[in-house]
Amino acid sequence: MPNQASKSFYVTTPIFYVNDAPHIGHAYTEVASDVLARWHRQRGQNSFLLTGTDEHGEKILRTAATNNTTPQAWADKLVTEAWLPLLETIDIKNQDFIRTTEPRHEKNVQKFLQHLYDTGFIYRGEFEGNYCVGCEEYKTEADLMPGEGAFAGESVCAIHSKPVERLAETNYFFKLSEFEDKLLSFYTENPKFIQPESARNEVVSFVRRGLTDLSISRSKEKFDWGIDIPWDDSHITYVWFDALLNYITAIGYGEDTAEAKAQFETLWPASVQIVGKDILRFHAVIWPAMLMAAGLEPATQVFGHGWLLVGGEKMSKSKLTGIAPSQITDTFGSDAFRYYFMKAIAFGQDGSFSWEDLSARYQAELANGFGNLASRSIAMIHKYFDGVLPAAGAFTADDLKVQQIAADAVLTANAAIDEIAIQDAINAIWTLVDELNNYITVQAPWVLAKDEANTERLGTVLNTTAEGLRALAVLLNPITPKATAKLWSALVGDDSLDAQLLDNAGAWNQLKAGSKIGQLEPLFPRIETDEAK
Ligand code: ME8
Ligand code: MG
Repeated sequence: MPNQASKSFYVTTPIFYVNDAPHIGHAYTEVASDVLARWHRQRGQNSFLLTGTDEHGEKILRTAATNNTTPQAWADKLVTEAWLPLLETIDIKNQDFIRTTEPRHEKNVQKFLQHLYDTGFIYRGEFEGNYCVGCEEYKTEADLMPGEGAFAGESVCAIHSKPVERLAETNYFFKLSEFEDKLLSFYTENPKFIQPESARNEVVSFVRRGLTDLSISRSKEKFDWGIDIPWDDSHITYVWFDALLNYITAIGYGEDTAEAKAQFETLWPASVQIVGKDILRFHAVIWPAMLMAAGLEPATQVFGHGWLLVGGEKMSKSKLTGIAPSQITDTFGSDAFRYYFMKAIAFGQDGSFSWEDLSARYQAELANGFGNLASRSIAMIHKYFDGVLPAAGAFTADDLKVQQIAADAVLTANAAIDEIAIQDAINAIWTLVDELNNYITVQAPWVLAKDEANTERLGTVLNTTAEGLRALAVLLNPITPKATAKLWSALVGDDSLDAQLLDNAGAWNQLKAGSKIGQLEPLFPRIETDEAK
C-alpha cells in the first residue's frame, strides 16, 4: 500500500449485479471502501472511490422479460430506485458510479478486446462445460454437488444449490493458461498484492494447480444482452470479462482526450480493490492476467473480505435472509451502521450480524462512550464559561497524558489503515474516547467548579477535553461523518472539518481560546428498545 501522502488513492468496490436487491453484504463492502477513501482524503491525498453496477448477462435479460420490459429499462429502474439510494442510505461519498451499459464502458471494452485479439491473446475454439447462471461461470466437477429435493439426481452448483446447464459452444478464448508463471512471480514479487494472507495462500495454490484458457464470449443464439465481440457480431462478451474492465473504463482507459489520459495516469494502478472472497479469484487471477496481456499494470492490492453471516448463514437473496440496509439505518442512522460493521468484525474475517449486538454497541460505545462524552463536555463549557472556550493554563501530567494518547492514536490508526485493518484503527481511536471519559471522571470539573480559586484549572480541564473532542472529530470523520460534522460545528462553528489533515489531529491548541462554542445536536439519540428490533 502506498502511504506517502502525495500519491493518489484509488479504491474500488465490485460492481454489483443490478438485478439483486441491495442488502447489508453489499453495503458492508461499500462502507469499508468509503472509510478507506475518506481516510486517505483526510490525509490530504487525491482520493477516488469508484462503485457501480454490473448490468449484462442472462439473469437480467430473463427478469426484464418476466417484468415485460427491456433489459436496459429494467437496469435503469433498478439503478435509480435501488442502487443509487443505497449510497445515500449509508452515506457513501463516491467520486464516480459506473454502469456497464454506458457507452464509455462498452466502447472501451471493445477496444480492449480488439487489442487482445490483434496481439494473439484471444483465439476461437470449442468448449463444453457446466455453466451456472447464478455464478455466471463455468463450473468444474469439484464445484458441484448432488442436488436435493426437486433437484435430486441432478448435479447442482454448490453455491446456488441449483442445477447447472450443459453448454457446448464455439467461443472465443482468452489465453489465461499463458499467465500461470507470470502470475506466480507477480505474487512473489508483490507479497501484499492479495490480502489477507489466508486469501493469498488460497489463490496461490489455485494458480499452482494450473490454469486453463477462459471462454470470453457467448453465442447470440443463446441470448444477446451483452457487449458485441467487435470482430464477430454473432457473439457477445462474457459478462465477467466485461465487468472487470469497469475499473479502468471508468477512469479513462481507451479515451483519447488529454483529460481522460491524465486521469488514467493518475489513478491506475488502483491502490486497493475491495471485494468479497466469493469473487477473489476473478480479481486476483483473471483480472491481473487480462491487464498483463494488455501491457497494463495490475492493481497494487486486492483485498478479499469475509462474509456477513445472519443466523450463521451467508446472507444472500436466494437464501431469503437479506436485510435491507435501510432497515438498520431507519432506526440507528447511517453513522451507527458504518461504525458497527467496521468495529464489530475484523475486516478480512467472517462476522455475524445480530440486532442485539448492534443495539448493545450503539448504546454502550456510540451513545454512552462517544456521544455522552461530547454532550457533557460541551454542556460544561456552557455551564461554567458561558459557552466561551477557556484557555489552558499550565499542563499537569494528566493533561499531557491525554495529548500523548491522542498523538499515539493518530499514528496507530494510520498504520492500521495502511494494512486495511479498519477495526484496529477504530480501536486505536477509541483509546482516546476512553481516556477522555476517564480524565473527566478523575478531574471532576463539577467539583473544581465549586471553588473560584480553581477557575484556571477548570479552564485547563475543559480546554483539554475540547481539544480531545476536536481530535476525535477529525479521526472519526471517515467513519461517522454525520456525528463528527455536528461535533465540529459545535466546537469550531464552520464546515472546515473535511479540510483538517488527519496527520495533524493530535497536535494541541488548535481551537481558539475565547471562541464561542455552539450547542451540540445529539450525536446518537436514545433509541427505545422495542424500536431497536
Ligand atoms: O459478484 N457478506 O456481484 P454481486 C459480505 N457483479 N459481502 C457480501 C455478502 C455477504 N454476505 N454478499 C454479497 C458480483 N457481498 C459481480 C461483481 S466486479 C467486476 C463484478 C458483497 O452483486 C461482496 O462484496 O454478486 C461480494 O463480493 C459482492 O457483494 C458480490 O456482489
Ligand atoms: Mg454474487
